[in-house]
Amino acid sequence: MNIEELRARLEEANQGHLLRYWDQLSDQEKLQLYNELSHQDFNEINEFYKTVMENVSAASKKLNDVIEPLPKEVCGRVVNTGPETLSQYNNSGLKKIGESRVAVLLLAGGQGTRLGVPYPKGMYDVGLPSGKTLYQIQAEKLLKLQRLGESVTGNSCKIPWYIMTSEHSKQSTQDFFQKHKYFGLQEDDVILFEQNLLPCIGFDGKIILEKPHKVALSPAGNGGLYRALHHNGVLKDMESREIEYIHVYSVDNILVKMADPVFIGFCISRGANCGAKVVEKTFPTEAVGVVCKVEGKYQVVEYSEITLKTAGKRDCNGRLVFNAGNICNHFFTLDFLKFVSEPSQERLLKHHVAKKKIPHVSDKDCRQTTQPGSPNGIKMEKFVFDVFLLSSSFAVWEVIREDEFAPLKNADTADKDTPTTCRRALLNLHHRYLIGAGAEFVYTDGTKISHIPSQKGEDEALFVESEISPLVSYAGEGLNELVEGRKFVSPVYINQDFTMDKPKIVDG
Ligand code: UD1
Repeated sequence: MNIEELRARLEEANQGHLLRYWDQLSDQEKLQLYNELSHQDFNEINEFYKTVMENVSAASKKLNDVIEPLPKEVCGRVVNTGPETLSQYNNSGLKKIGESRVAVLLLAGGQGTRLGVPYPKGMYDVGLPSGKTLYQIQAEKLLKLQRLGESVTGNSCKIPWYIMTSEHSKQSTQDFFQKHKYFGLQEDDVILFEQNLLPCIGFDGKIILEKPHKVALSPAGNGGLYRALHHNGVLKDMESREIEYIHVYSVDNILVKMADPVFIGFCISRGANCGAKVVEKTFPTEAVGVVCKVEGKYQVVEYSEITLKTAGKRDCNGRLVFNAGNICNHFFTLDFLKFVSEPSQERLLKHHVAKKKIPHVSDKDCRQTTQPGSPNGIKMEKFVFDVFLLSSSFAVWEVIREDEFAPLKNADTADKDTPTTCRRALLNLHHRYLIGAGAEFVYTDGTKISHIPSQKGEDEALFVESEISPLVSYAGEGLNELVEGRKFVSPVYINQDFTMDKPKIVDG
């Protein structure tokens, strides 16, 4: 420990207060604080703070004048695309998967504050009949997709799964996958890497101490991806596996179509180096970012940054003008990811600012942490979509919300984006898959149930519950031979995990 060197660096950056309790710390606490501080670049942090505070007020005022909706020519919509074209996209995506040219990258470095569980969100079980966690569902989708890819090329294939965690979640995620034998995936193909944390800063520009020996740190936003890719050698790993396309997605969408061959095929058909999947935004205050153009460049304006006036604008048909709702599903070519992750380029990505209540050392007793009642500082974050503006060929694919988007953000005490809404979204989708494959649902007395599912709560008895393992079907395909013409009594459960060689159907 070279404490004098650290002290000098801190003083020079006007952050000397971080060592004010040094003499009261135990040896272990000194080591912890030293380790936390010694690798930080305080001049860089001060610079981030200065820039972010200068930009923050100017940005939202100006936004109304410079924001434009997406031009039609970059957008494709599932509902306007004929079955032949959809099938072409699907085949072209599956071919790339079958040739092992596609990787998926999960953004899982967030803290999941709103859901409020002390473990990573991917380990959450929303209460499905199978009891599967988000991670298990995702792993099974990958396994299935590998099989579908193999059936196109006739060769064995892999979809490496890169998972970005943070210091808070890396070990528990690693342990979880080990405990569950990687849900049947090859251990080598599940690659965890860590994003960096950034200190929280008070409104006076001083870094906040949470405890006398601990800085208040938080993940640097999902745009921390680019720095993390570079620093952890992830791009080199992708290169050595000859990956061409990467699907980046967030952990919380229970309906996520990882490495969606249709989305990949669509982006390839457009020659895109960067793409976004969206759903139609339904109301002005919905908490989704909107994909749009700002000062002529593709961007997402985040829900926390758009003004109500802009968000509420409608066209002559009554539709929201800014209606391309971001669902945090992005497509990148490896060349584009390499370009934007170069330190010279990454440095240019701006920080966004969120005013937060940041727990800090109590003024009265430094061994106590105070939970402030109102915001006392900021968290600085980069956003994954801020690289869109660097794309020379951008494409947007609009999908159907009830097929592809049901995020888990809040605990069940909230009324949306909860474990209950996620569970229902998945069970409803699987019900529709079964109806589409020719299954019939009947009451125990044999009379037919209407195809339109009732919502649980309206009439419990009418709610049809169906869950299909992703190992049986990735997106509704391949079910006809199992269910066509058969009658089922709810709940229906078509199960398979990696230890079973064929599906097991249970109903009633
Ligand atoms: C995100 C999108 C928003 C979109 C919404 C849809 C961003 C910045 N915002 O918002 O435009 O409409 O999802 O559900 O993408 N994460 C990290 N590191 C971090 C912070 C977050 O990896 O430092 C990960 C989270 O674990 C999560 C994903 O990024 O998987 C999205 O983060 P979250 O905080 O849930 O984003 P939202 O605010 O919901």
